[in-house]
Parts: sequence; C-alpha cells; structure tokens
Amino acid sequence: MISQQTIDIVKSTAPILKKNGQQITTRMYEIMFQNHPEIRGQFDMSAQGDGSQPARLATAVYAYAAQIDNLPALKSMVEKIAHRHVQTHVTPEQYPIVGESLLQAMKDVLGEAATEEVMAAWAKAYQALSQVFIHREHDIYIDEERKQVVHS
Ligand code: HEM
Repeated sequence: MISQQTIDIVKSTAPILKKNGQQITTRMYEIMFQNHPEIRGQFDMSAQGDGSQPARLATAVYAYAAQIDNLPALKSMVEKIAHRHVQTHVTPEQYPIVGESLLQAMKDVLGEAATEEVMAAWAKAYQALSQVFIHREHDIYIDEERKQVVHS
C-alpha cells in the first residue's frame, strides 16, 4: 500500500513531469543503456533515435503521477504496455534497473526540485507500479505458455 503522503507528493510532481517528461526519459535511456548495454537488444533502437519511445514512456510516467490514486483509470494503458513487455521478454529482475535509471534521470533533470522527499516518494511509487506490471505480465506469460501447449 502506498501512503497518502506518498500519493500527495507524487501527484504534486505531475505538472513538472508533464513539462520535463521527455527530457527525463531520454536521460533515463542514456543512463540505462550505458550501465546495462545488454538490455539494448530488447529495444527497437530506431524508436529511441526518433524520440518516440522516450515520448511513450514519458506519457506513461505522467499518467501514473496524475492518477496514482485512481489506478483503474490506467487499466488500458497498463494492458498495452504489459503486452508489449511480454512480446519483448521483459523480466521482473529488470524492473529495478529501469527504476534506478529513472530515478537518477529525475534527479539529473529536475535538479533542486528533486528533493529527498520527492525522490523517496517516487522510489515507493515506482516500486508499486512495478508490482502492477510484474503481476500482470506473469499472468500473460502463463497464458502464452498454455496456448503453446495447446498448439504443440
Ligand atoms: C514501471 C516501469 C515501466 C514503465 C512505466 C514502462 C513503460 C513502457 C511504455 C509506455 C512502453 C511503450 C508501449 C507501446 O506503446 O508500445 C514500453 C515498452 C517497452 N518497455 Fe517498458 N516500462 C517499464 C518497465 C520496463 C522494464 C523493466 C523493461 C526492461 C528492460 C522495459 C522494456 C521495454 C521494452 C523492451 C519495450 C518495447 C520498446 C520498443 O518497442 O522498442 N520496460 N514500456
């Protein structure tokens, strides 16, 4: 469960994330691909080059910040992302890598606005969102395995 205080802090960052979202996610990929080059193979690198993947991630991060207290509103977004993650073989172990890179990127881009309080709230919020994806993706992976058994 996320505390009300965390919810309030994360929601208060929504406008600044809307404004700086693309810069943050572009920086995030830079950090992540530098520290974990092995992850590159999972991504369509042309969608990095033209900025469309950072834009999609920025939209998702903003939507989460704005609706963290109304998760049912994010259901169709989570579904779409989770299916894409399964297609590209994302694993639960990779979530902390994205989390670390995203938080560092927020710090780099937001500077003084990224107070300790804001960073601590986002660490908790990211953890909670990861769990939503990990659980949904687990179910989709199981469904896919079942389909393969039926068809083999
Ligand atoms: C809470 C964390 C995450 C969020 C909010 C998120 C968000 C997104 C979004 C919005 C997309 C685009 C979906 C579409 O419209 O096609 C996407 C795709 C993708 N995500 Fe994530 N993601 C997260 C975690 C991860 C993790 C841990 C990985 C592991 C490496 C990952 C790897 C990918 C890949 C490989 C794609 C496909 C990109 C492509 O087509 O080039 N994501 N994600």
